[in-house]
Amino acid sequence: MSRRLLVTHALPYANGPLHLGHMLGYIQTDIWVRAQRMMGNEVHFVAADDAHGTPIMLAAEKAGVSPEVFIAEIRAGHEADFSDFHFSFDHYHTTHSEENRELASLIYTRLRAGGFIANRTIQQLFDPEKDMFLPDRYIKGVCPNCGTPDQYGDNCENCGATYAPTDLINPYSVMSGATPVLRDSEHYFFELSKFEPLLRDWFGGKFTAGKPVANSGVVAKLMEWLDGGLKDWDISRDAPYFGFPIPDAPGKFFYVWLDAPVGYLASFKALCHQTGLKFDDFLSPDSTAEMHHFIGKDIINFHGLFWPAMLHGAQLRTPTALHVNGYLSINGAKMSKSRGTFIKARTYLDAGLHPEFLRYYFATMLSDAPVDVDLDLKAFEERVNSHLIGKWVNIASRTAGFVQKYFDGRLADHFDAEEAEIWRFIESHYDDVSKLYEDGEFAEVTRKFVLIADVINGYIAAKAPWLMAKDDSRRDELQQVCTLALNGFRLLAGLLKPVLPATVAAAEQFLAAPISNFDDARRTLFGQTIQPFESLLSRIDPKHVEAMVEASKESLGTSSEPVVAPVKAASVKKPKESSKPMSDSKPAISDTADATSTISIDDFAKLDLRIGKVTACEFVDGSDKLLRFELDAGTLGKRQIFSGIRAAYAEPEKLVGRNVVFIANLAPRKMRFGLSEGMILSAGDGGSDLFLLDADQGAAPGAAVR
Ligand code: 2FM
Ligand code: ZN
Repeated sequence: MSRRLLVTHALPYANGPLHLGHMLGYIQTDIWVRAQRMMGNEVHFVAADDAHGTPIMLAAEKAGVSPEVFIAEIRAGHEADFSDFHFSFDHYHTTHSEENRELASLIYTRLRAGGFIANRTIQQLFDPEKDMFLPDRYIKGVCPNCGTPDQYGDNCENCGATYAPTDLINPYSVMSGATPVLRDSEHYFFELSKFEPLLRDWFGGKFTAGKPVANSGVVAKLMEWLDGGLKDWDISRDAPYFGFPIPDAPGKFFYVWLDAPVGYLASFKALCHQTGLKFDDFLSPDSTAEMHHFIGKDIINFHGLFWPAMLHGAQLRTPTALHVNGYLSINGAKMSKSRGTFIKARTYLDAGLHPEFLRYYFATMLSDAPVDVDLDLKAFEERVNSHLIGKWVNIASRTAGFVQKYFDGRLADHFDAEEAEIWRFIESHYDDVSKLYEDGEFAEVTRKFVLIADVINGYIAAKAPWLMAKDDSRRDELQQVCTLALNGFRLLAGLLKPVLPATVAAAEQFLAAPISNFDDARRTLFGQTIQPFESLLSRIDPKHVEAMVEASKESLGTSSEPVVAPVKAASVKKPKESSKPMSDSKPAISDTADATSTISIDDFAKLDLRIGKVTACEFVDGSDKLLRFELDAGTLGKRQIFSGIRAAYAEPEKLVGRNVVFIANLAPRKMRFGLSEGMILSAGDGGSDLFLLDADQGAAPGAAVR
């Protein structure tokens, strides 16, 4: 009987373009979804942009647009990337939608009516200049444990200590540089501990006929958290906040993580409106449909604790399963902008790389366990070229021409004994393909693919059809070889259809026979007339990989505001809103410049560094980051430069008279506030930790710095 499945993947934040780290989980989901469809199940695959929260609000502010305009633009980019990587969503939505507002409010009001929401006044750090409460990641200061400066409000990157932002020594607001003050605020808490028995039942498979809700390692982690005691979850945030207002709570908004998973349901609800599907059939507590969530391992707590509890508390069904993937590294290391391995999905495509090559490479690494995956770019190139072109496409390219030339495009109408035996052998390896897909064991599927392809290629090599073709008396033999080879080629196409949907669609055209389900591919094509063969895929040219890496290097430092040019390698980490994940693992993404990369003396000579005497310096109306400088640059004349160091200098007028160092040949940048004609150098990590470089007395304005 066909199963009914609602499938989701983790919602990307609407704060920037997708990178290959995102693509790992999304590709895994799409492969699973397509395999389920091939098994004849009814699948509804939905996702959305995760559009709320402080970082998005501030990013929009920085871009000078409303959050609505900002998220719409990001969403368009995400949808284009998803489509070009061949994701088969039934609907793609946004959490900033009416459906989501209604559902989040409904779930909240049901939780409140059930007695699961508590109000408490808490003390939180407040930025008196920005006039807002500060999420932990927007507060920095000296680590109370090891004394390292500039550590975030929730944990120290140097010693790993975790603490409350109030424990920081000399805390400052990342946004304004101001010293935060403690203020009272009423917050709303979801009383998670009341759901402990429910969660134990859910982990134990009580609602899924004994089937585990996740890989055993994931369930063990969830149990560990449960046994450690569940804490209430703070689900409210104070204005200003980009999100949904909490009903009957003026000035309070749902924390982004409250309405994010509800976004799965909102997207599905929108699909229901479009198609006439019944929402309750999938979401009521007694639903026989399945609900599968694909997520990264950093968000297990949200999906394995809060989410099932929220659903149950709101009288909705709990998830059937969580499918968890690990982190992506590239060339054995964290993704890094300086090495060119912080690769955006769009950069991959723009470099001319086939989207299905990445899908295949990831498939060769994925299993049911949340293992980390390394994208080794050399291995990527070699594996794709060897498996897909060398082993698979070549089966067709070495035989299809003979079918056209000698048999009018027609395959034989039977197998001889030898071919029948080989067919039985390769088919026996195809038997458990659906089960492997069902279990998420994609790497094993690709091992089968290679095994079957090797058998067929070995058979072709032994038969040497190119010799048979020279001998009129061997036509039947030749047709047998081509018929076995091309049926084998088709079996492999069926096996990989969830991974390579577009390429296999082209193979179906070539064989003039659709593959709608896994069984189709094992039905032999006897007497079939096929189309002339056209190359399905070309090998990866290493130049394209190099171009991708180069382009990824270039995309460093393209922010819309000028930043100071720190003398040491700059950290360009984006602050992330604290979600206090219980996972102790960290995303394998590093934006930190690689201190070991070098430049040539010629590169350095391109910079025209000069001394500028500060003749005026002032705050900039409408910017909480910038100072406006006027410099006397000697023979170069006067220069106006905007520099993002406001947090470090509270009294800009005191900088007048200093001999600063600036880049004189940087292309002028038109800003909202005027033209910026260069960049002033400072040392330090940013925020209030920035120190202008200056020259000793006697250095003349405009003097070159070498
Ligand atoms: O971690 C993230 O990127 C979140 N935007 C994932 C949200 S998944 C779901 F709950 F919405
Ligand atoms: Zn520390």
